[in-house]
Amino acid sequence: MKEIIPAPPAIVRNDYESVRELFSKNVVPSYGRFDLALDHGTGSYVFDVAGKRYLDLGGGIAVCCLGHAHPAITDALVEQSKKLIHVSNLYFTEPQGRLAAELVKRIGAGKVFFANSGAEANEGLFKLARKFGHDEGRFEILTATNSFHGRTLAGIAATGQDKVKKGFEPMTPGFRHIPFNDLEAARNAISPATVAIMIEGVQGEGGVTPATPEYLLGLRALCDEKKLLLLMDGVQCGHFRTGKFQSFQRILENVPGGENFLPDGFSMAKSLGGGFPIGAFWVRAPFQDLLGPGTHATTFGGTPLACAVALKIFEVIEKEKLDENARKLGEQMKNELERLAKNYPGVVKSARGLGFMLGLELAEKIPAFAASDKSTAIQFVNRLHAAGVLTIPAGTQVIRLLPPLNLKPQEAAEGIAKIEELVKSLV
Ligand SMILES: Cc1ncc(COP(=O)(O)O)c(C=O)c1O
Repeated sequence: MKEIIPAPPAIVRNDYESVRELFSKNVVPSYGRFDLALDHGTGSYVFDVAGKRYLDLGGGIAVCCLGHAHPAITDALVEQSKKLIHVSNLYFTEPQGRLAAELVKRIGAGKVFFANSGAEANEGLFKLARKFGHDEGRFEILTATNSFHGRTLAGIAATGQDKVKKGFEPMTPGFRHIPFNDLEAARNAISPATVAIMIEGVQGEGGVTPATPEYLLGLRALCDEKKLLLLMDGVQCGHFRTGKFQSFQRILENVPGGENFLPDGFSMAKSLGGGFPIGAFWVRAPFQDLLGPGTHATTFGGTPLACAVALKIFEVIEKEKLDENARKLGEQMKNELERLAKNYPGVVKSARGLGFMLGLELAEKIPAFAASDKSTAIQFVNRLHAAGVLTIPAGTQVIRLLPPLNLKPQEAAEGIAKIEELVKSLV
């Protein structure tokens, strides 16, 4: 007899192999994906298609600042979608104006342009710099070695890592790299064509390395002296992750002269939308009108929907003081990770970071990993998956913890315990 109810399509059967097959047949294979197919999440946990639970300490690479399925985000999405999702930037919409005002209030006097991603926010800053130097023939932007600024053509030219450039040469002209946290190198690298310096406040993909206060203040003075724009990429380290709204505010707190520090341009994305795509750049007041009508645009930038979500996220973070949570719990987690480095030097080399942007540098030669040609970081992350914890590799030796800002103390303890268990097993 013919079956009355046909077998459900593969995706409904919810098994890993069928999801993977959809990808291998239909999705461009540009990502090295882990062997996990995730299905749903709640708070700091996600579940795979087989129902296995994982503590998400990667936060979708510093994106899911309120965790998964936060009701405030769902409500904001639903409410705004009933009213207005998109109209284009040919018109004014209140959520975009209000979100810009919130960003200006927290960074400093200036204006904001909305985009859709971190790379696109940085592209805007590159264009700002080119416009700034155009009439004097200056166009060159100095960026740091080990930096990461996105995967567009200008993004990979700006990124100080060869692996993202390979196969895509020739590079977009106008970018040169300087060693990070080395002020003298920056001074020496400036040429008559230089127009800007761009750095991350805390290098993320490069292995979780914060800028020093002296470097930030020194670059500010250098840029003023040489008439350069100081641009900062806050895409990963921003949005309260370090314990202050932006990383430079955290790095320079209580530092004499730090209270007056501002970059000239600043990019944001990731946690700004908590998982809903939105990017933005802020530009300091003296330069805020450089990009006049017709010079820069994007269809989806700052839709009412994206901005309503971002506004709601500000409300939740501030009401629940999640910046303080990131600072306090992040410090405790860092202490625990440092303890691991002290107790198990054969596995963990060092721990570093600020707030909820933490890096664990693994030892070069871990005997249990010798047989595989996968990097130490990837093998460590894979083993943590087996233990039910998600983390993110950074380069070959570092794993990153970028948890939601509302991570609970018992969840932090669970994550540390599982990491320690793994470390112990590798001794
Ligand atoms: C510091 C930094 N800048 C830019 C980007 C690019 O952002 P997106 O992937 O949203 O284009 C990233 C992404 O990881 C990043 O970490």
